[in-house]
Amino acid sequence: MQAKHASVNAELQLDEQAYGQDPIANRETDLYRGEYIMSFVEKWDELIDWDARADSEGQFFIDILRARGKETVLDVATGTGFHSVRLTRAGFNVTSADGSAAMLAKAFENGQKRSMILKTVQADWRWLNRDIQGKYDAIICLGNSFTHLHDEKDRRRALAEFYAALKHDGILILDQRNYDSMLDHGYSNKHKYYYAGEKVKAEPTYIDEGLARFNYSFPDGSEYTLNMCPIRKNYMRRLLSEAGFERVRTYGDFQESYAESEPDFFIHIAEKSSLHLVRWGGATTEDGKQDIREVAETYYDSDDADTFYSHVWGGQDLHIGLYDDSTDIRTASDLTIDEMVKMLPNLNQNATVLDIGSGYGGAMRKVVRETGCSAVCLNISDVQNDTNRHRNIQQGFADKIRVVHGAFEDVPEEAAKFEVVWSQDAILHSDQRQKVLEEVYRVLKPGGYFIFTDPMQADDADPAALKPVYDRLQLNSLGSMRFYREAAQTLGFEVVEQREMTHQLRTHYFRVREGLLAQYDKLRSEGASAEYLDKMSQGLLNWVEAADAGQLSWGIQMFKKPD
Ligand SMILES: C[S@@+](CC[C@H](N)C(=O)[O-])C[C@H]1O[C@@H](n2cnc3c(N)ncnc32)[C@H](O)[C@@H]1O
Repeated sequence: MQAKHASVNAELQLDEQAYGQDPIANRETDLYRGEYIMSFVEKWDELIDWDARADSEGQFFIDILRARGKETVLDVATGTGFHSVRLTRAGFNVTSADGSAAMLAKAFENGQKRSMILKTVQADWRWLNRDIQGKYDAIICLGNSFTHLHDEKDRRRALAEFYAALKHDGILILDQRNYDSMLDHGYSNKHKYYYAGEKVKAEPTYIDEGLARFNYSFPDGSEYTLNMCPIRKNYMRRLLSEAGFERVRTYGDFQESYAESEPDFFIHIAEKSSLHLVRWGGATTEDGKQDIREVAETYYDSDDADTFYSHVWGGQDLHIGLYDDSTDIRTASDLTIDEMVKMLPNLNQNATVLDIGSGYGGAMRKVVRETGCSAVCLNISDVQNDTNRHRNIQQGFADKIRVVHGAFEDVPEEAAKFEVVWSQDAILHSDQRQKVLEEVYRVLKPGGYFIFTDPMQADDADPAALKPVYDRLQLNSLGSMRFYREAAQTLGFEVVEQREMTHQLRTHYFRVREGLLAQYDKLRSEGASAEYLDKMSQGLLNWVEAADAGQLSWGIQMFKKPD
């Protein structure tokens, strides 16, 4: 005869969290299953206000997954199902796993309430592949869940299991609270946290390097606790790399990459393989040299560059400013945009502008805001594109600005489509500038304008003297005023203006270097490597010196495609 309750899951029957005599001493990885008792789980959704949480994270995860063409998602920390439900609704094929039976039961119920049958699997991460079948495009581990793992060997083991459950080009998205700031500066509750249900208080009651104990109190007087392991951001990034992930990108909070000095959460996006690097037709060119486009892509995708550019420029623009009326980099950068807008006779709400090498997209947001035009941002760095897309959503430009991943030597747009093609300080990265101009000519409408700036060499520069300048960006040449004039006229462009303003380039690189030196320690603490910063500082000095020696050139140029 079968036992009456043989199929009842004992965890669902627990009615009290049990930590033993000394709760602070309890730092076991297995603890979580006894912490998420059913009564706490029932309260959990009061704690995670689903609407507020959806508002605060926006489309972040959906966009990250879609932008990379991911379809099958394993949610390893399903909890009560918030992300599983959102992603299922957004069209992803989601499997919902969790180690806690109580959580999964609640997630299933939450799915049912929304007319979904979640595919739930109870699985502890340390033995994930025992319970999970197949390989996934993406794994998500969200809501600070990973920090339930108290032992380093469990963390390594879980990451190895995640890695194994991913396809060869799969990604892992894993978030964590900003424990660095709690450990270094104490806990502050000025921030809006994920778990910000109006009436629920969530706060740490104890913190040391090995334990962050949180207390959750509810309006009915009930209280629950969680013992978490306060792992630091850079330690987590190292674990991910050591687990075999080739590239790890860390966001501060949902939308902003490092824009906030003190984000509440870090979100790590770990790529199993950086295969995308060969997307441009092979990792090396026929003569065995590296494709220059990969150099630019890898450079701008790197954490070092992203940290540096976000801080020193404010993460909107990274182009040369006009310093006649201001010494501030941000203001001067805006003034260049203003000047270019003034020069264009056909920029109005009927125009569509293509920005090639658009970076974080600050220029197009400003141009669209001020003129009412529409815009397409084409850029090779997906790290910048992600930031660009999120800022567009955040600032209400999503329907006016489309962000496209691609190379400006091969523009993925139809011929004769744009009134204006725009570019700021990007074409220097190309070793096929002639091809870039051909593409610009092709996609412009008859009567359309190409307006751009580009750091160049002087017409009569000495390439040998420029070697230190080339080296910073692994270039072996730069354009020049003469080069652009000749190339443009050969293609049939009318050269409307070449306004030479090389002194602005000199001031700009000088100011950026000053900014770097002033913020050196901060940039280091944000994760930029000393090697990168020192090289950058020397590289910028090389540009300043080359400008002083009359070897460089910069200005605004405008060409017209005949009517
Ligand atoms: C100095 S940043 C300028 C960014 C932006 N125009 C601004 O003013 O903020 C140069 C940009 O060119 C992009 N880029 C470099 N090579 C590219 C290529 N082959 N195709 C498309 N974008 C490229 C980089 O990703 C980077 O965003």
